[in-house]
Amino acid sequence: MLLGVNIDHVATLRNARGGEHPDPVQAALVCEANGATSITAHLREDRRHIKDKDLIALKKVIKTNLNLEMAVTSEMQQIALKIKPHSVCLVPEKRQEVTTEGGLDVVGRLNKICDFITPLKEAGILVSLFIDPTKDQVDAAAKSGAQFIELHTGQYSLAFGTPDEAEEFEKLKDATELAHSYGLKVNAGHGLNYENVYRMRQIYGIHELNIGHSIISRAVFVGIDKAVQEMAALVK
Ligand code: PXP
Repeated sequence: MLLGVNIDHVATLRNARGGEHPDPVQAALVCEANGATSITAHLREDRRHIKDKDLIALKKVIKTNLNLEMAVTSEMQQIALKIKPHSVCLVPEKRQEVTTEGGLDVVGRLNKICDFITPLKEAGILVSLFIDPTKDQVDAAAKSGAQFIELHTGQYSLAFGTPDEAEEFEKLKDATELAHSYGLKVNAGHGLNYENVYRMRQIYGIHELNIGHSIISRAVFVGIDKAVQEMAALVK
């Protein structure tokens, strides 16, 4: 399994003081040098962490793959077509939420998502849909034209160590198997940490995990280089 590191929280810290430090682009380079195989950045409508200039700089300097997380809006589509990241991951976005709270409703918005994806794919950008691990959403994702799904591991992460863990884990496993049967590639992420990540290795064929908060949190104590190395060792 590959490890994508989400650097949004480095930008959150930078923005807390309005200056330039810590620089998320510099952080991305350290992540790459220590085992990250892609860098994820979420350009939110309100620009609360990653800013447009960060994306431009990331695209220029990183040597691995840039994965742009974004909402299904025409503004974001234009930005993606201009920046041309390696991949985009389409996520739902609510202004008031602290972080992405649930998966994208592909079932309810299939036509809109199909139309949205087409120019991105024509520009050579891989498209991933961040969805909850349910049969309906995987079925709809398979019809959408996206090449990837990213399974929302938030419920599994919350349930980890509780009686609900097994059920939430099975949902991820079943959704992965179903997605593979349609020829979709499968990534996963949200809420994964140094304790709960090991079970992702028990699911055959997950391509990449996207992890942010736990790595940046651990970096406060051990440094971002070591924090990424430790997670990369758990993921591989
Ligand atoms: N994947 C997606 C689609 C996300 O929205 C997020 C959170 O920004 C992550 C992965 C990473 O989640 P976390 O920061 O909890 O590791």
